[in-house]
Amino acid sequence: MSAAPPHTVLGIETSCDETSAAVLTAPPGGADAPVLASCVILSQDVHRVYRGVVPELASRAHLVAVGDVVDRALGDAGLMLSDVDLFAVTEGPGLVGALLVGVSYAKGLACATGRPLVGVHHLEGHLFSTALEDPAAVPPFVALLVSGGHSMLLDVPAWGRYRLLGETRDDAVGEAFDKVGSLLGLGYPGGPAIERAAAGGNPSRYRFPRPMLHGGQRLGDADYFDLSMSGLKTALSLAVRASKDLDADRPHLARGFQDAVIDVLVAKTLRAVDATGHPRVVLGGGVACNAALRAALAAALAREGATLHAPSARLATDNAAMIARAGLWHAAEAGGEVDAAAHLPFPGLDRP
Ligand code: KG4
Ligand code: ZN
Repeated sequence: MSAAPPHTVLGIETSCDETSAAVLTAPPGGADAPVLASCVILSQDVHRVYRGVVPELASRAHLVAVGDVVDRALGDAGLMLSDVDLFAVTEGPGLVGALLVGVSYAKGLACATGRPLVGVHHLEGHLFSTALEDPAAVPPFVALLVSGGHSMLLDVPAWGRYRLLGETRDDAVGEAFDKVGSLLGLGYPGGPAIERAAAGGNPSRYRFPRPMLHGGQRLGDADYFDLSMSGLKTALSLAVRASKDLDADRPHLARGFQDAVIDVLVAKTLRAVDATGHPRVVLGGGVACNAALRAALAAALAREGATLHAPSARLATDNAAMIARAGLWHAAEAGGEVDAAAHLPFPGLDRP
């Protein structure tokens, strides 16, 4: 008797400014350990000119690219459209026009092939990203999701069960990096540019506030796990205004800002580990690319006997591989209605 063919999933992600498609193949009974056969990520450069994502331009660029990106992902995997058993697409949250491109294209593929389509929540996708490269990045874990659009700490006892511990009350962490990057006269996106500038900065030249972090906070307090970036941004803009030589001060300002963000993220993550007892932390979202954050988190967690599981830079930012991975997990539910939604409730999320 011949072995059953592998389960092949094609994922599509178009929620913001990356057009991405990826193919996963899972051996029979091996949905827990799929192989990443290909992943194509086309980042839209057009937004750099405007120092932020322009929704209408994002939708148009997705429309132009999505077909070629999907074809290339299939080609890289050495497969044809007819080999795909399941389609997975980001249905939200995100820019609704951008989402619509991916959702419509995926619906077309599912309709043409007669294969099922599953809609995936973008943030749940980020939770699955690290597991693609690191088999130990599975529940139970604490998740720190820090991207340009979202920042949250989650208790993840099992796939599909998510308890919100804390989230940002204003800007997402990546958004704060982008805005501070702009204040410092660095390009968009600000995160990588700030990290590069901070590498040459003196950590004791500027000491900025650590927002929403003080020793008097106790478990159960509303701000125990929550984050806030607005006060830190204001402190930065005042320091920029007071600077007599921004070119000379830039690396020190970048270092002071990055250190403040890292201190807060490390402290809040340690609180989550302590409160849940989970031995693992999974990092996700574009800010997970920051090497200084990863090093600080890994060192602090090691002191507590816990481990950090962080995706590679390619899978930390938006990509379709994580959508295919989450879609594979949700495959049992495939076949339901899939629609683009700018604001989509996180499936399985308990809010305090
Ligand atoms: O997850 P992502 O690709 O897109 C969203 O879903 O938002 O995250 C993009 C964010 C941007 O705000 C960018 O500045 C930030 O991730 N980012 C970084 C770094 N690389 C990207 N932030 C800090 N340090 C980095 N090295
Ligand atoms: Zn994202």
